[in-house]
Amino acid sequence: MKVAVFSTEKYDRQFFDAANVHFGHELFYLEPHLNIHTVALAQDFPAVCAFVNDDLDAAVIEKLAKHGTRLIALRSAGFNHVDIQTAHDRGLTVVRVPAYSPYAVAEHTIGLLLTVNRKFHRAFNRVREGNFSLEGLLGFDIHGLTVGIIGTGKIGMCVASILKGFGCKLLAYDVYPNPEAAQFGMDYVSLDELFARSDIITLHCPLTPDTYHLIDQETLSKMKDGVVLLNTSRGGLINTLDVIEALKSGKVGCLGLDVYEEEADLFFEDLSSTVIQDDVFARLLTFPNVVITGHQAFFTRNALYSISETTLANITEFEQTGTSENRVTIDMVR
Ligand code: NAI
Repeated sequence: MKVAVFSTEKYDRQFFDAANVHFGHELFYLEPHLNIHTVALAQDFPAVCAFVNDDLDAAVIEKLAKHGTRLIALRSAGFNHVDIQTAHDRGLTVVRVPAYSPYAVAEHTIGLLLTVNRKFHRAFNRVREGNFSLEGLLGFDIHGLTVGIIGTGKIGMCVASILKGFGCKLLAYDVYPNPEAAQFGMDYVSLDELFARSDIITLHCPLTPDTYHLIDQETLSKMKDGVVLLNTSRGGLINTLDVIEALKSGKVGCLGLDVYEEEADLFFEDLSSTVIQDDVFARLLTFPNVVITGHQAFFTRNALYSISETTLANITEFEQTGTSENRVTIDMVR
């Protein structure tokens, strides 16, 4: 199938070209994000392949449909950046990669936790400069702490399994409790109880209208003073301005982020020679107790291999059957 692959980086091409030897699709790699300004590039492509910061809103989908596109192949698990209702109404099929490596994201989450706690980022720079002072590097034992996991799907459960090994007490909240949680001694509680009892809170639920700004001034006020907050899920789960206030007051003791609500204008690009225009993001960078990575939690070779294989298999399945077992259906957003 002829596919316009948007938002491609060198590593995407490398993994997709290797996998495509077994599929034989016609892949056209495009660097820009797919959005209303670039959708014209998809003209006459029956399939487009999109990533997390492409913006497939109603207007973009209308244009894709008009151009003859029939398939939107997401190379991500999340589909919050796609107007599924419009795609459904215009007869476009949306497929995704439901699981590629939950371990990659879970392990990165723990990396952020260890970094905000033991301050590896500061220690690394100090030691290279011959500064061996420990002042400002004081951390805490994670063993024995209570961790609240919001969203106990594939990634949340991997995080639980690692934290059980650390000797943590695990609390969980999910709209659909996971029967496997018992093996990690995880207790499902209400969101309010999780906020009140957790020393560390980690977010692993999808971004939906229900979870948008799940962490805001009101929910932050229910948390312990000095709570550690981790988000490797989606930026929109956190009201960034409210979290900045909570960092200033000490309510949030440490913050580890791999995602940011306005990341589409920043992440995946080398902006090191430009002036960052996003003042909220710039403020976040000033805190010594905040560590941010640029949406790299998924970025392992295992995950990239799996993403390219599954995406191309989804396209082949659609080409042969008109559907896919990894289709995003309308009831997944209702
Ligand atoms: P999953 O679908 O296996 O698990 C999500 C869980 O969240 C489910 O158990 C679901 O019931 C629960 N959930 C849904 N609505 C909820 C709500 N309102 N409150 C609490 N829980 C709710 O998804 P998976 O694979 O574990 O991924 C989780 C999230 O991680 C994805 O939605 C995606 O946004 C993010 N992600 C981030 C990556 C990164 O590189 N930073 C890479 C891959 C995923």
